[in-house]
Amino acid sequence: MSIHRLALPLLLTAAASAASAQQQAAAIEKLAPYFPTPLTIVEKMLQFGALKAGEKHFDLGSGDGRIVIMAAEKFKADSTGVEFDADLFKQSSDKIKKKGLDKRSRIIHGDVMKQDYTSADVLTVYLLPSSNEKLRPLLDRQLKKGTRIVSHDFEISGWTPEKVESIDDDGEGRSHTLYFYRR
Ligand SMILES: C[S@@+](CC[C@H](N)C(=O)[O-])C[C@H]1O[C@@H](n2cnc3c(N)ncnc32)[C@H](O)[C@@H]1O
Repeated sequence: MSIHRLALPLLLTAAASAASAQQQAAAIEKLAPYFPTPLTIVEKMLQFGALKAGEKHFDLGSGDGRIVIMAAEKFKADSTGVEFDADLFKQSSDKIKKKGLDKRSRIIHGDVMKQDYTSADVLTVYLLPSSNEKLRPLLDRQLKKGTRIVSHDFEISGWTPEKVESIDDDGEGRSHTLYFYRR
């Protein structure tokens, strides 16, 4: 059998799996551009959510992993980020490993709309209002009673916040609003 005949099935398999990875990436809807929360506000979000040691926290669209890292490092929570962008996924996963936080934090490389949040005690989100609206039915179905949700800057329409905090200046002249919900 010629080398070409042996190589062809391998090539076809590789091409098919590359095509399927592309299709999967294309199927994920971008719910917000990457725009990181300043670290001072990250801390406020986690305090606002009253995140405690050992609790399960998820950041939906975790960017460079800053919320996940602070949740695990400073608040001693068990924290999971979900991020579909391959570079941000790698960057945040590498940082978690480098800091030795990988026992209680991790990043899932995937779609926030396709995850299981049933174990969550606290969720943080920094997505667009229309994205929060798309996410809400999934959270309504999955979240256990008492789960706390902190949304940065945008409300989750259809839910009533238990408290709202405005921060006039984050030190860089930007104002922020935090919305706290409890299921
Ligand atoms: C505004 S940034 C917030 C990043 C981080 N949570 C923070 O507050 O610093 C939104 C993030 O959501 C990610 N994202 C958007 N749509 C997504 C989806 N469908 N699944 C997973 N991540 C998504 C973007 O790549 C981006 O990193």
